[in-house]
Amino acid sequence: MEGKKERYELLLKSMQALITDEIPAEGNVSNLLALLRQEFNLFWVGLYMRTSERKLGLGIFQGLPACTVIDFGRGVCGTAVQKEETVIVDDVTEFPGYIACHSEAKSEIVVPGYKDGKIDFVLDVDSIELAAFDKTDKHYLEKVARLLEKILYSSKPVTA
Ligand code: SME
Repeated sequence: MEGKKERYELLLKSMQALITDEIPAEGNVSNLLALLRQEFNLFWVGLYMRTSERKLGLGIFQGLPACTVIDFGRGVCGTAVQKEETVIVDDVTEFPGYIACHSEAKSEIVVPGYKDGKIDFVLDVDSIELAAFDKTDKHYLEKVARLLEKILYSSKPVTA
């Protein structure tokens, strides 16, 4: 099997190919998240959107029903917003303030997404494996976040 980098490179190509201006942004985001979840057999993949100055609310996702509201500074998602950086957690039981939406999740990565220079969402990815995420995931999931920003906020056609 190809390495993780190669799989991400192919995944990004599939994502680009699937995005279309003919459908609402929600359809494109759902497809991207579904592709990501499928490729790496992930437990849960989704977005939490900024809903106010201090809160995130559940957005589009693929997987089981999840927690709905997360305060900034709380959990892995709220910590990524507060630190304004990607957060990788190898073992969620060791993360202070971890918000357990599902007992199956063992490790997690949360990547911020920006609108007009300000964090407007986080891409949250959960695995049932311990330490499933590393620098390669960070690198490519940050690229996925850029693609999501383009779909959600670009005034130009997303396929351009
Ligand atoms: N575990 C996250 C909450 C969201 S779920 O993983 C879907 C957190 O601690 O922020």
